[in-house]
Amino acid sequence: MRKQIVAGNWKMNTTLEDGLKLAAQVNELSQSLPQDVELIIAPPFTHLHTLANKLQGGKVKVSSQNCAAWDKGAYTGEISVDMIASTGASHVILGHSERREYFGETSEILLKKVKLTLDKGLTPIFCCGEVLDERDANRHFEVVQTQIEEVLFNLTEGEMKNVIIAYEPVWAIGTGRTATPEQAQEMHAHIRKCLVKKFGNAVANATSILYGGSCKPDNAVEIFAKPDVDGGLIGGASLKAEDFIAIAKSFPK
Ligand code: 13P
Repeated sequence: MRKQIVAGNWKMNTTLEDGLKLAAQVNELSQSLPQDVELIIAPPFTHLHTLANKLQGGKVKVSSQNCAAWDKGAYTGEISVDMIASTGASHVILGHSERREYFGETSEILLKKVKLTLDKGLTPIFCCGEVLDERDANRHFEVVQTQIEEVLFNLTEGEMKNVIIAYEPVWAIGTGRTATPEQAQEMHAHIRKCLVKKFGNAVANATSILYGGSCKPDNAVEIFAKPDVDGGLIGGASLKAEDFIAIAKSFPK
């Protein structure tokens, strides 16, 4: 059985004070979730230590939204995986389309970050997804496959077992235009097929693939009902505890 996961990417939102309140609400409401649903929040770096401390031993895990591509040293302003691990966070979101677009993150850079994250015993949440022009040109399968091949195909089978994938079509992020459940399913199935070819059935079938892009309480049930969708990476709706938890309750019974 694959893990069912709902992760909230807070992006550059909330002060520490707001973040503490939101995390406390999420924590409180998470008590009503089924045992087998894994819940992760990804606040800004500045909140990691405080929130990881508060949430320690509970159901909600903490993730960063990025990490440096180097181990340590003279890289002013960067945050290493060791530093993230030392806060008590357990996951690192990598390759989000906003990082690819605004910060020039390439597959080469992402491979370094994924490797460092795994080497330090943290779990990468690796994001992939096509832009609208690529979908319109019917190139979406090829684009996502290349993103996966250029980074994840350089991992060993053992490393791949510790990776979570998030498919986020860029045209669906923050736009209110979500992928249809069918569009999500066919891409997730395609990603899994790629994983089967490289890593074999056991690894491919154990890898959680999350959907992200305007996922809300009112569309999550249909999307999570698809066989290759193992949960969601949630942006806007993760900033409201009730909505975030409602999404986490959307898995088929
Ligand atoms: P929205 O849910 O706001 O569309 O954002 C999705 C996302 O980018 C999560 O990483």
